[in-house]
Amino acid sequence: MQFLPNLSVITRPAQQRSLMSVARQAQDILSPEFAQDPYGNYQIMRESTPLVWHEAMQSYIISRYEDVERAFKDSVFTTDNYSWQIEPVHGRTILQMSGREHAVRRALVAPAFRGKELQKKFLPVIERNSRELIDGFRQTGSADLVSQYATRFPVNVIADMLGLDKADHDKFHGWYTAVIAFLGNLSQDPEVAAAGERTRQEFAEYMLPIIQERRAHPGDDLLSALCVAEVDGTVMSDEDIKAFCSLLLAAGGETTDKAIASVFANLLRHPDQLAAVQADRSLIPRAFAETLRFTPPVHMIMRQVAEDVPVSGGVIGKGSTVTCLIGSANRDERRYADPDHFDIFRSDLNAVNAFSAAADHLAFALGRHFCVGALLAKTEVEVGVNQLLDALPGLRLADEADPSEQGVFTRGPASVRVSFDVA
Ligand code: HEM
Repeated sequence: MQFLPNLSVITRPAQQRSLMSVARQAQDILSPEFAQDPYGNYQIMRESTPLVWHEAMQSYIISRYEDVERAFKDSVFTTDNYSWQIEPVHGRTILQMSGREHAVRRALVAPAFRGKELQKKFLPVIERNSRELIDGFRQTGSADLVSQYATRFPVNVIADMLGLDKADHDKFHGWYTAVIAFLGNLSQDPEVAAAGERTRQEFAEYMLPIIQERRAHPGDDLLSALCVAEVDGTVMSDEDIKAFCSLLLAAGGETTDKAIASVFANLLRHPDQLAAVQADRSLIPRAFAETLRFTPPVHMIMRQVAEDVPVSGGVIGKGSTVTCLIGSANRDERRYADPDHFDIFRSDLNAVNAFSAAADHLAFALGRHFCVGALLAKTEVEVGVNQLLDALPGLRLADEADPSEQGVFTRGPASVRVSFDVA
Protein backbone atom coordinates (compact mmCIF):
# COMPACT_ATOMS: atom_id res chain seq x y z
CA MET A 1 0.00 0.00 0.00
CA GLN A 2 1.10 3.53 -0.62
CA PHE A 3 0.66 5.94 2.27
CA LEU A 4 -0.81 9.35 1.72
CA PRO A 5 1.08 12.51 2.50
CA ASN A 6 -0.12 14.61 5.44
CA LEU A 7 -1.50 11.66 7.41
CA SER A 8 -0.78 11.03 11.06
CA VAL A 9 1.82 8.33 10.42
CA ILE A 10 3.90 10.72 8.35
CA THR A 11 3.90 13.48 10.94
CA ARG A 12 5.60 11.42 13.68
CA PRO A 13 9.27 12.19 14.51
CA ALA A 14 11.65 10.48 12.05
CA GLN A 15 13.12 7.93 14.47
CA GLN A 16 9.73 6.91 15.84
CA ARG A 17 8.38 6.78 12.30
CA SER A 18 10.97 4.32 11.04
CA LEU A 19 10.43 2.09 14.10
CA MET A 20 6.67 2.25 13.57
CA SER A 21 6.88 1.43 9.90
CA VAL A 22 9.03 -1.64 10.61
CA ALA A 23 6.89 -2.86 13.47
CA ARG A 24 3.43 -1.74 12.40
CA GLN A 25 2.87 -1.91 8.67
CA ALA A 26 -0.28 -3.57 7.44
CA GLN A 27 -0.01 -6.19 4.70
CA ASP A 28 -1.45 -5.44 1.28
CA ILE A 29 -5.22 -5.87 1.38
CA LEU A 30 -5.03 -7.99 -1.81
CA SER A 31 -2.37 -10.36 -0.41
CA PRO A 32 -3.00 -13.92 0.87
CA GLU A 33 -1.45 -12.85 4.21
CA PHE A 34 -4.12 -10.18 4.63
CA ALA A 35 -6.87 -12.70 3.85
CA GLN A 36 -5.38 -14.99 6.49
CA ASP A 37 -5.63 -12.36 9.22
CA PRO A 38 -7.62 -9.27 8.25
CA TYR A 39 -8.37 -8.37 11.86
CA GLY A 40 -4.71 -8.00 12.88
CA ASN A 41 -4.13 -5.88 9.78
CA TYR A 42 -7.23 -3.77 10.42
CA GLN A 43 -5.91 -2.98 13.87
CA ILE A 44 -2.64 -1.70 12.40
CA MET A 45 -4.50 0.34 9.78
CA ARG A 46 -6.79 1.96 12.38
CA GLU A 47 -3.80 2.87 14.46
CA SER A 48 -1.24 3.91 11.84
CA THR A 49 -2.96 4.59 8.50
CA PRO A 50 -6.67 5.28 9.05
CA LEU A 51 -6.78 6.83 5.57
CA VAL A 52 -4.68 5.22 2.89
CA TRP A 53 -4.58 5.21 -0.93
CA HIS A 54 -4.46 1.81 -2.61
CA GLU A 55 -3.02 2.10 -6.11
CA ALA A 56 -4.18 -1.26 -7.54
CA MET A 57 -7.72 -0.78 -6.24
CA GLN A 58 -7.68 2.89 -7.27
CA SER A 59 -9.42 3.60 -3.99
CA TYR A 60 -8.86 5.22 -0.62
CA ILE A 61 -9.41 2.90 2.33
CA ILE A 62 -10.87 3.99 5.67
CA SER A 63 -10.89 1.76 8.73
CA ARG A 64 -11.99 3.66 11.85
CA TYR A 65 -15.57 3.37 13.14
CA GLU A 66 -16.10 7.12 13.18
CA ASP A 67 -15.04 7.50 9.52
CA VAL A 68 -16.97 4.50 8.19
CA GLU A 69 -20.11 5.55 10.07
CA ARG A 70 -19.81 9.03 8.54
CA ALA A 71 -19.35 7.59 5.05
CA PHE A 72 -22.65 5.73 5.41
CA LYS A 73 -24.57 8.69 6.81
CA ASP A 74 -23.16 11.78 5.06
CA SER A 75 -24.59 12.30 1.55
CA VAL A 76 -21.28 13.67 0.26
CA PHE A 77 -20.33 9.98 0.15
CA THR A 78 -22.53 8.92 -2.80
CA THR A 79 -23.31 5.43 -4.09
CA ASP A 80 -22.43 6.43 -7.68
CA ASN A 81 -19.73 3.72 -7.56
CA TYR A 82 -22.46 1.10 -8.03
CA SER A 83 -22.95 2.23 -11.63
CA TRP A 84 -19.68 0.44 -12.48
CA GLN A 85 -19.51 -1.89 -9.49
CA ILE A 86 -22.84 -3.70 -9.90
CA GLU A 87 -24.98 -2.19 -12.67
CA PRO A 88 -23.17 -4.34 -15.27
CA VAL A 89 -24.49 -7.48 -13.54
CA HIS A 90 -27.86 -6.48 -12.02
CA GLY A 91 -28.92 -3.53 -14.14
CA ARG A 92 -29.85 -0.31 -12.32
CA THR A 93 -30.94 -0.92 -8.70
CA ILE A 94 -31.85 1.10 -5.59
CA LEU A 95 -28.28 0.81 -4.33
CA GLN A 96 -27.07 3.41 -6.82
CA MET A 97 -30.09 5.72 -6.55
CA SER A 98 -30.31 8.80 -4.35
CA GLY A 99 -32.79 11.46 -3.25
CA ARG A 100 -36.44 11.14 -4.24
CA GLU A 101 -35.80 8.38 -6.78
CA HIS A 102 -34.28 6.22 -4.05
CA ALA A 103 -37.02 7.08 -1.53
CA VAL A 104 -39.83 6.13 -3.94
CA ARG A 105 -38.10 2.95 -5.07
CA ARG A 106 -37.46 1.92 -1.49
CA ALA A 107 -41.09 2.60 -0.58
CA LEU A 108 -42.12 0.27 -3.43
CA VAL A 109 -40.10 -2.69 -2.19
CA ALA A 110 -39.74 -2.19 1.58
CA PRO A 111 -43.28 -3.17 2.75
CA ALA A 112 -42.66 -6.86 1.96
CA PHE A 113 -39.66 -6.83 4.33
CA ARG A 114 -41.29 -5.14 7.33
CA GLY A 115 -42.03 -7.07 10.52
CA LYS A 116 -45.82 -7.50 10.13
CA GLU A 117 -45.78 -8.61 6.49
CA LEU A 118 -42.87 -10.96 7.19
CA GLN A 119 -44.58 -12.62 10.14
CA LYS A 120 -47.93 -12.95 8.38
CA LYS A 121 -46.88 -14.06 4.95
CA PHE A 122 -43.33 -15.32 4.95
CA LEU A 123 -42.65 -16.85 8.40
CA PRO A 124 -44.23 -20.18 7.33
CA VAL A 125 -42.10 -20.12 4.17
CA ILE A 126 -38.93 -19.58 6.24
CA GLU A 127 -39.85 -22.32 8.73
CA ARG A 128 -40.67 -24.82 5.98
CA ASN A 129 -37.47 -24.22 4.04
CA SER A 130 -35.32 -24.61 7.14
CA ARG A 131 -37.08 -27.82 8.20
CA GLU A 132 -36.74 -29.37 4.74
CA LEU A 133 -32.97 -28.90 4.81
CA ILE A 134 -32.55 -30.16 8.38
CA ASP A 135 -34.60 -33.28 7.53
CA GLY A 136 -31.83 -34.16 5.10
CA PHE A 137 -29.28 -34.74 7.91
CA ARG A 138 -31.00 -34.85 11.33
CA GLN A 139 -30.59 -38.67 11.54
CA THR A 140 -26.96 -38.81 10.43
CA GLY A 141 -25.06 -37.68 13.56
CA SER A 142 -22.82 -35.32 11.58
CA ALA A 143 -23.15 -32.54 8.99
CA ASP A 144 -21.47 -29.55 7.43
CA LEU A 145 -23.70 -26.64 8.40
CA VAL A 146 -22.33 -24.57 5.50
CA SER A 147 -22.77 -26.86 2.47
CA GLN A 148 -25.82 -28.75 3.79
CA TYR A 149 -27.67 -25.81 5.31
CA ALA A 150 -26.40 -22.22 5.21
CA THR A 151 -25.59 -21.95 1.49
CA ARG A 152 -29.02 -23.28 0.55
CA PHE A 153 -31.44 -21.88 3.14
CA PRO A 154 -31.54 -18.11 2.36
CA VAL A 155 -31.57 -18.62 -1.43
CA ASN A 156 -34.37 -21.18 -1.13
CA VAL A 157 -36.31 -18.70 1.03
CA ILE A 158 -35.95 -15.84 -1.48
CA ALA A 159 -36.80 -18.10 -4.44
CA ASP A 160 -39.88 -19.33 -2.54
CA MET A 161 -40.91 -15.80 -1.51
CA LEU A 162 -40.69 -14.70 -5.15
CA GLY A 163 -42.65 -17.76 -6.25
CA LEU A 164 -39.74 -19.17 -8.32
CA ASP A 165 -38.95 -22.84 -8.73
CA LYS A 166 -36.57 -24.05 -6.01
CA ALA A 167 -35.49 -26.84 -8.35
CA ASP A 168 -33.49 -24.09 -10.07
CA HIS A 169 -31.44 -23.60 -6.88
CA ASP A 170 -28.15 -24.55 -8.54
CA LYS A 171 -28.73 -21.91 -11.22
CA PHE A 172 -29.50 -19.23 -8.58
CA HIS A 173 -26.47 -20.25 -6.58
CA GLY A 174 -24.20 -20.05 -9.65
CA TRP A 175 -25.60 -16.63 -10.54
CA TYR A 176 -25.27 -15.05 -7.13
CA THR A 177 -21.79 -16.46 -6.68
CA ALA A 178 -20.78 -14.82 -9.99
CA VAL A 179 -22.40 -11.54 -8.92
CA ILE A 180 -20.64 -11.47 -5.55
CA ALA A 181 -17.33 -12.28 -7.24
CA PHE A 182 -17.92 -9.36 -9.65
CA LEU A 183 -18.70 -7.03 -6.76
CA GLY A 184 -15.57 -8.09 -4.87
CA ASN A 185 -13.32 -8.17 -7.95
CA LEU A 186 -10.75 -5.91 -6.28
CA SER A 187 -7.93 -7.03 -8.57
CA GLN A 188 -10.02 -6.51 -11.76
CA ASP A 189 -9.73 -10.12 -12.96
CA PRO A 190 -11.16 -10.10 -16.55
CA GLU A 191 -12.62 -13.63 -16.24
CA VAL A 192 -14.57 -12.65 -13.14
CA ALA A 193 -15.85 -9.56 -14.98
CA ALA A 194 -16.92 -11.63 -18.02
CA ALA A 195 -18.72 -14.22 -15.84
CA GLY A 196 -20.61 -11.39 -14.10
CA GLU A 197 -21.76 -9.92 -17.39
CA ARG A 198 -22.88 -13.35 -18.69
CA THR A 199 -24.94 -13.70 -15.54
CA ARG A 200 -26.89 -10.54 -16.32
CA GLN A 201 -27.87 -11.99 -19.71
CA GLU A 202 -28.81 -15.42 -18.38
CA PHE A 203 -30.79 -14.00 -15.47
CA ALA A 204 -32.75 -11.69 -17.82
CA GLU A 205 -33.60 -14.61 -20.13
CA TYR A 206 -34.81 -16.60 -17.11
CA MET A 207 -36.74 -13.85 -15.31
CA LEU A 208 -38.41 -11.65 -17.94
CA PRO A 209 -40.87 -14.31 -19.20
CA ILE A 210 -41.78 -15.17 -15.57
CA ILE A 211 -42.40 -11.49 -14.77
CA GLN A 212 -44.67 -11.14 -17.83
CA GLU A 213 -46.56 -14.27 -16.87
CA ARG A 214 -46.98 -13.00 -13.27
CA ARG A 215 -48.31 -9.65 -14.53
CA ALA A 216 -50.95 -11.55 -16.50
CA HIS A 217 -51.78 -13.96 -13.65
CA PRO A 218 -50.79 -12.40 -10.31
CA GLY A 219 -50.50 -14.70 -7.31
CA ASP A 220 -49.82 -14.23 -3.60
CA ASP A 221 -46.04 -14.10 -3.97
CA LEU A 222 -43.48 -11.29 -3.68
CA LEU A 223 -42.92 -11.12 -7.45
CA SER A 224 -46.63 -10.48 -8.06
CA ALA A 225 -46.59 -7.85 -5.27
CA LEU A 226 -43.68 -6.07 -7.01
CA CYS A 227 -45.59 -6.13 -10.34
CA VAL A 228 -48.58 -4.25 -8.87
CA ALA A 229 -46.78 -2.01 -6.34
CA GLU A 230 -47.31 1.73 -6.89
CA VAL A 231 -46.03 4.76 -4.95
CA ASP A 232 -46.87 8.35 -5.99
CA GLY A 233 -47.82 7.13 -9.47
CA THR A 234 -44.52 5.25 -9.92
CA VAL A 235 -44.58 1.56 -10.83
CA MET A 236 -41.70 -0.79 -11.60
CA SER A 237 -40.97 -1.81 -15.21
CA ASP A 238 -40.11 -5.44 -16.05
CA GLU A 239 -36.45 -4.42 -16.23
CA ASP A 240 -36.66 -2.74 -12.77
CA ILE A 241 -38.21 -5.86 -11.25
CA LYS A 242 -35.67 -8.17 -12.86
CA ALA A 243 -32.80 -5.99 -11.54
CA PHE A 244 -34.31 -5.95 -8.03
CA CYS A 245 -34.74 -9.76 -8.00
CA SER A 246 -31.14 -10.14 -9.12
CA LEU A 247 -30.07 -7.85 -6.24
CA LEU A 248 -32.23 -9.79 -3.78
CA LEU A 249 -30.66 -13.13 -4.66
CA ALA A 250 -27.15 -11.76 -4.21
CA ALA A 251 -27.76 -9.33 -1.31
CA GLY A 252 -29.96 -11.72 0.62
CA GLY A 253 -28.28 -15.01 -0.27
CA GLU A 254 -24.55 -14.74 0.27
CA THR A 255 -24.87 -12.42 3.29
CA THR A 256 -27.36 -14.42 5.35
CA ASP A 257 -25.61 -17.62 4.34
CA LYS A 258 -22.37 -16.36 5.90
CA ALA A 259 -24.19 -14.88 8.90
CA ILE A 260 -25.79 -18.21 9.88
CA ALA A 261 -22.51 -20.08 9.43
CA SER A 262 -20.68 -17.48 11.53
CA VAL A 263 -23.24 -17.52 14.35
CA PHE A 264 -22.61 -21.26 14.69
CA ALA A 265 -18.82 -21.01 14.26
CA ASN A 266 -18.67 -18.33 16.98
CA LEU A 267 -20.95 -20.20 19.41
CA LEU A 268 -19.29 -23.58 18.84
CA ARG A 269 -15.92 -22.00 19.63
CA HIS A 270 -17.42 -20.68 22.90
CA PRO A 271 -19.26 -23.70 24.35
CA ASP A 272 -20.36 -21.78 27.47
CA GLN A 273 -22.15 -19.21 25.29
CA LEU A 274 -23.62 -21.98 23.09
CA ALA A 275 -25.00 -23.68 26.26
CA ALA A 276 -26.53 -20.36 27.37
CA VAL A 277 -28.30 -19.95 23.99
CA GLN A 278 -29.42 -23.58 24.01
CA ALA A 279 -31.03 -23.03 27.43
CA ASP A 280 -32.51 -19.60 26.68
CA ARG A 281 -33.51 -19.03 23.07
CA SER A 282 -34.32 -15.38 23.70
CA LEU A 283 -30.52 -14.92 23.53
CA ILE A 284 -30.47 -15.72 19.77
CA PRO A 285 -30.82 -12.04 18.72
CA ARG A 286 -27.86 -11.20 21.02
CA ALA A 287 -25.79 -14.00 19.48
CA PHE A 288 -26.67 -12.72 15.99
CA ALA A 289 -26.00 -9.06 16.87
CA GLU A 290 -22.60 -9.91 18.37
CA THR A 291 -21.79 -12.03 15.31
CA LEU A 292 -22.65 -9.10 13.03
CA ARG A 293 -20.22 -6.94 14.99
CA PHE A 294 -17.45 -9.50 15.47
CA THR A 295 -17.50 -11.31 12.11
CA PRO A 296 -19.71 -9.34 9.68
CA PRO A 297 -20.58 -11.14 6.41
CA VAL A 298 -19.76 -8.03 4.33
CA HIS A 299 -16.33 -6.63 5.20
CA MET A 300 -16.22 -3.72 2.79
CA ILE A 301 -18.57 -1.36 0.99
CA MET A 302 -17.55 1.39 -1.42
CA ARG A 303 -18.60 4.99 -1.84
CA GLN A 304 -17.66 7.82 -4.24
CA VAL A 305 -17.23 11.35 -2.86
CA ALA A 306 -19.07 14.27 -4.49
CA GLU A 307 -16.53 16.87 -3.26
CA ASP A 308 -13.18 17.05 -1.44
CA VAL A 309 -13.69 15.57 2.04
CA PRO A 310 -11.25 15.85 4.95
CA VAL A 311 -10.99 12.48 6.75
CA SER A 312 -8.62 11.32 9.51
CA GLY A 313 -5.98 13.94 8.83
CA GLY A 314 -6.02 13.66 5.02
CA VAL A 315 -8.30 14.72 2.18
CA ILE A 316 -10.27 12.44 -0.13
CA GLY A 317 -10.40 14.24 -3.48
CA LYS A 318 -13.69 14.90 -5.29
CA GLY A 319 -14.78 11.95 -7.45
CA SER A 320 -12.53 9.43 -5.65
CA THR A 321 -13.66 5.99 -4.59
CA VAL A 322 -13.48 5.09 -0.90
CA THR A 323 -13.48 1.55 0.48
CA CYS A 324 -15.16 1.48 3.90
CA LEU A 325 -13.87 -1.36 6.07
CA ILE A 326 -16.89 -2.56 8.06
CA GLY A 327 -14.91 -5.50 9.47
CA SER A 328 -12.40 -3.06 10.93
CA ALA A 329 -14.86 -0.41 12.13
CA ASN A 330 -16.79 -3.06 14.08
CA ARG A 331 -13.61 -3.88 16.02
CA ASP A 332 -12.52 -0.31 16.67
CA GLU A 333 -11.15 -0.08 20.21
CA ARG A 334 -12.32 3.55 20.29
CA ARG A 335 -15.89 2.23 20.12
CA TYR A 336 -15.97 -1.22 21.77
CA ALA A 337 -14.33 -2.56 24.91
CA ASP A 338 -12.11 -5.58 24.23
CA PRO A 339 -13.27 -5.65 20.57
CA ASP A 340 -11.47 -8.85 19.53
CA HIS A 341 -13.45 -10.86 22.06
CA PHE A 342 -16.74 -12.56 21.05
CA ASP A 343 -19.14 -12.06 23.93
CA ILE A 344 -22.91 -12.16 23.57
CA PHE A 345 -23.18 -10.71 27.09
CA ARG A 346 -20.98 -7.65 26.46
CA SER A 347 -22.40 -4.53 28.06
CA ASP A 348 -21.82 -2.42 24.93
CA LEU A 349 -23.93 -4.74 22.73
CA ASN A 350 -27.23 -3.16 21.73
CA ALA A 351 -29.28 -6.14 20.56
CA VAL A 352 -32.59 -4.23 20.60
CA ASN A 353 -31.60 -1.83 17.81
CA ALA A 354 -29.19 -4.18 16.03
CA PHE A 355 -31.60 -4.89 13.15
CA SER A 356 -32.83 -1.35 12.54
CA ALA A 357 -31.26 1.80 11.12
CA ALA A 358 -30.48 2.76 14.74
CA ALA A 359 -27.99 -0.15 14.89
CA ASP A 360 -24.67 0.35 16.61
CA HIS A 361 -22.62 -2.10 14.51
CA LEU A 362 -22.11 -1.28 10.82
CA ALA A 363 -22.76 -4.72 9.26
CA PHE A 364 -25.98 -3.56 7.56
CA ALA A 365 -24.48 -0.11 6.78
CA LEU A 366 -26.44 2.90 8.11
CA GLY A 367 -28.35 5.83 6.67
CA ARG A 368 -30.43 5.82 3.49
CA HIS A 369 -29.15 2.50 2.12
CA PHE A 370 -29.47 0.62 5.42
CA CYS A 371 -30.15 -3.01 4.52
CA VAL A 372 -33.78 -3.53 3.44
CA GLY A 373 -33.53 -7.21 4.40
CA ALA A 374 -32.24 -6.82 7.99
CA LEU A 375 -35.48 -8.06 9.59
CA LEU A 376 -35.75 -10.90 7.10
CA ALA A 377 -32.17 -11.91 7.96
CA LYS A 378 -33.00 -11.75 11.68
CA THR A 379 -36.09 -13.91 11.19
CA GLU A 380 -34.13 -16.45 9.14
CA VAL A 381 -31.38 -16.63 11.77
CA GLU A 382 -33.88 -16.99 14.63
CA VAL A 383 -35.80 -19.76 12.86
CA GLY A 384 -32.63 -21.50 11.68
CA VAL A 385 -30.77 -21.43 15.02
CA ASN A 386 -33.89 -22.54 16.94
CA GLN A 387 -34.66 -25.43 14.60
CA LEU A 388 -31.05 -26.60 14.41
CA LEU A 389 -30.61 -26.53 18.20
CA ASP A 390 -33.87 -28.49 18.62
CA ALA A 391 -32.99 -31.06 15.96
CA LEU A 392 -29.31 -31.60 16.84
CA PRO A 393 -28.90 -32.34 20.57
CA GLY A 394 -25.36 -32.37 21.92
CA LEU A 395 -24.21 -30.15 19.02
CA ARG A 396 -20.40 -29.79 18.93
CA LEU A 397 -17.62 -29.18 16.43
CA ALA A 398 -16.61 -32.44 14.72
CA ASP A 399 -13.12 -33.76 15.51
CA GLU A 400 -10.53 -31.74 13.61
CA ALA A 401 -13.18 -29.41 12.18
CA ASP A 402 -11.75 -26.06 11.13
CA PRO A 403 -14.43 -23.39 10.80
CA SER A 404 -11.90 -20.72 9.87
CA GLU A 405 -13.06 -17.82 7.72
CA GLN A 406 -12.33 -17.12 4.05
CA GLY A 407 -12.69 -14.01 1.91
CA VAL A 408 -11.83 -10.32 2.16
CA PHE A 409 -14.85 -8.65 0.55
CA THR A 410 -17.45 -10.97 1.98
CA ARG A 411 -16.18 -13.32 4.66
CA GLY A 412 -17.38 -16.40 6.53
CA PRO A 413 -16.42 -19.99 7.37
CA ALA A 414 -15.93 -22.26 4.35
CA SER A 415 -17.27 -25.15 6.42
CA VAL A 416 -18.69 -25.76 9.90
CA ARG A 417 -18.50 -29.52 10.39
CA VAL A 418 -20.45 -30.66 13.44
CA SER A 419 -21.37 -33.84 15.31
CA PHE A 420 -24.55 -34.38 17.33
CA ASP A 421 -26.50 -37.12 19.14
CA VAL A 422 -29.15 -39.07 17.31
CA ALA A 423 -32.11 -40.32 19.35
C1 HEM B 1 -26.89 -10.82 7.54
C2 HEM B 1 -27.41 -10.57 6.37
C3 HEM B 1 -27.21 -9.30 5.59
C4 HEM B 1 -26.17 -8.39 5.62
C5 HEM B 1 -24.90 -8.45 6.47
C6 HEM B 1 -26.49 -7.35 4.67
C7 HEM B 1 -25.69 -6.23 4.41
C8 HEM B 1 -26.10 -5.13 3.66
C9 HEM B 1 -25.35 -3.92 3.53
C10 HEM B 1 -23.97 -3.65 4.15
C11 HEM B 1 -26.07 -3.07 2.76
C12 HEM B 1 -25.72 -1.63 2.39
C13 HEM B 1 -25.03 -1.53 1.06
C14 HEM B 1 -24.60 -0.10 0.81
O1 HEM B 1 -24.97 0.81 1.56
O2 HEM B 1 -23.83 0.15 -0.14
C15 HEM B 1 -27.28 -3.77 2.37
C16 HEM B 1 -28.26 -3.24 1.56
C17 HEM B 1 -29.30 -3.99 1.04
N1 HEM B 1 -29.65 -5.26 1.42
FE1 HEM B 1 -28.74 -6.41 2.82
N2 HEM B 1 -27.68 -7.64 4.07
C18 HEM B 1 -28.16 -8.82 4.61
C19 HEM B 1 -29.35 -9.45 4.28
C20 HEM B 1 -30.21 -9.05 3.30
C21 HEM B 1 -31.41 -9.75 2.90
C22 HEM B 1 -31.91 -11.05 3.52
C23 HEM B 1 -31.97 -9.04 1.87
C24 HEM B 1 -33.21 -9.30 1.10
C25 HEM B 1 -33.58 -10.45 0.67
C26 HEM B 1 -31.13 -7.86 1.66
C27 HEM B 1 -31.37 -6.88 0.71
C28 HEM B 1 -30.72 -5.67 0.65
C29 HEM B 1 -31.08 -4.60 -0.27
C30 HEM B 1 -32.21 -4.63 -1.29
C31 HEM B 1 -30.20 -3.53 -0.01
C32 HEM B 1 -30.17 -2.16 -0.72
C33 HEM B 1 -30.86 -1.12 0.13
C34 HEM B 1 -30.81 0.28 -0.47
O3 HEM B 1 -29.97 0.57 -1.32
O4 HEM B 1 -31.65 1.12 -0.06
N3 HEM B 1 -30.08 -7.91 2.53
N4 HEM B 1 -27.28 -5.01 2.96
